[in-house]
Amino acid sequence: MPRPIHACIHTPALQHNLARARAAAADAKVWAVVKANAYGHGIEHVFEGLRGADGFALLDLSEAQRVRQLGWRGPILLLEGVFEPRDLELCSRLSLWHTIHCDEQIDMLAAHKTQVAHRVFLKMNTGMNRLGFTPQRFRSAWARLNALPQVDEISFMTHFSDADGARGIAHQVAAFNAAAQDLPGERSLCNSAATLRQRPGTPAVYADWVRAGIALYGSAPDHPEHTAAHWGLQPTMTLATRLIGTQQLQAGDTVGYGSCFTADRPTLVGIAACGYADGYPRHAGTGAPVLVAGVRTRLLGRVSMDMLAVDLNPVLAAGLQPGWGSEVTLWGRSSTGAVLPIDDVAHAAGTVGYELMCALAPRVPVAVAD
Ligand SMILES: Cc1ncc(COP(=O)(O)O)c(C=O)c1O
Repeated sequence: MPRPIHACIHTPALQHNLARARAAAADAKVWAVVKANAYGHGIEHVFEGLRGADGFALLDLSEAQRVRQLGWRGPILLLEGVFEPRDLELCSRLSLWHTIHCDEQIDMLAAHKTQVAHRVFLKMNTGMNRLGFTPQRFRSAWARLNALPQVDEISFMTHFSDADGARGIAHQVAAFNAAAQDLPGERSLCNSAATLRQRPGTPAVYADWVRAGIALYGSAPDHPEHTAAHWGLQPTMTLATRLIGTQQLQAGDTVGYGSCFTADRPTLVGIAACGYADGYPRHAGTGAPVLVAGVRTRLLGRVSMDMLAVDLNPVLAAGLQPGWGSEVTLWGRSSTGAVLPIDDVAHAAGTVGYELMCALAPRVPVAVAD
């Protein structure tokens, strides 16, 4: 018997979230961002749910190859462009669109021998200060690209640093529009937060394409200000396991490494087959939410490599008899239909839903549910 832990990817939830992103993005086309192996879900596992997108955006050429192998003939965008000259050969062969964010990438393209002119997205650094040409250098980069026979159509993009927070996006939108205003081509500005938080009817922001990542995976880009439920998003990944043991504690007894939890009353404890080697965050301490048999309860003490302890008293109080084999939902949807948002667990661990889903460990078997 394998350990009882498993992850489940929910195709209908991916379809639902994609529809939500589309509805929020006015008339823009939607890139489904599937970098980092579809935010930990597995590109092959999300493909069915996200094939209604207008294109797939990602980083690794190997991931682009996998999307093509799945039969996708539409646009694929490399969000960081190429890393070395031979990557351009694969771009030609697989018809990949690629981002140009630095002079070195223009140099590589200028030296590339190809029969197929490339579709590129020229990236402007409007304040994130990671990748892209400054507004001052943008026009000369465009002029250089525009003169290359290797280039077909040039589109424009930027990335927001504060779409999920108080500073917002207006200053970056203004910088982008001022520098790119009269340049011909499609535009892409918004990530999930910018897409969801803007009011429909602002086409200058939605532009031609939005790049939706985290929203597609059912996590709120601006948690805890808003929840996934607030944005009408559904969980796309469930991480579930079972109890493999129970312990009856008396007041004063402790649980786990470091004796970090001490019972202040008789407490029935369940031991679940899930630990940090499965991708569960070790920094989640006592109080992090967990569902047992669909009832919300809490983690107790320190998470170990393969196990964690949960408080079964609230489950008893709900009139259930938890024990060996009871279902434990670490995040996502329990078989009772109860939902534990990944953002709630991430918050308890001092991180974000992005990190938890991306950290799902390779040893966890994954199934796709239609
Ligand atoms: C350039 C770019 N666009 C879009 C996204 C998608 O962002 P999100 O997952 O917040 O929607 C990312 C992700 O970090 C990104 O790097």
